[in-house]
Amino acid sequence: MKRMLSLAGMLVITGVVVAGCAPSKSSTVTPGATNTNTPTATATFTLADVAAHNTQASCYTAIRGNVYDLTDWIRNHPGGPGAIVGICGTDGTEKFSGKHGGQAAQEQQLATFQIGTLQQ
Ligand code: HEM
Repeated sequence: MKRMLSLAGMLVITGVVVAGCAPSKSSTVTPGATNTNTPTATATFTLADVAAHNTQASCYTAIRGNVYDLTDWIRNHPGGPGAIVGICGTDGTEKFSGKHGGQAAQEQQLATFQIGTLQQ
């Protein structure tokens, strides 16, 4: 009987150790945030798809053949929301490139909003 109890005790301890490891294991997997972009970045949109998102409530734009969802960032644009609202639902290539083309910070910021590519 004593043996059975200590065996049971070992099982409990093993369970606690394994369970104790589980959260840290899953939290090391979670930061793979770059992976979450992979499926959406391969989605293709027509210009008509983009045009359907032409408001502040849902704002897509196409720039140099890629499609971006700028909705959540409109109010954060350092140059004011108007500049972004002006390209919602359109091909914003000329306006973006005219203002920011080749500027590293702006190009990097833009890349974070990509949801897919424009169908040619
Ligand atoms: C669509 C994606 C865009 C992104 C990701 C973006 C990003 C940015 C960023 C990061 C800044 C801050 C620059 C700094 O502090 O040095 C900025 C500023 C600014 N942006 Fe944009 N922008 C976008 C579109 C536009 C458009 C379409 C216009 C106008 C046609 C515009 C006009 C401005 C202006 C006037 C500023 C103020 C400072 C400056 O002249 O650089 N932006 N933008």
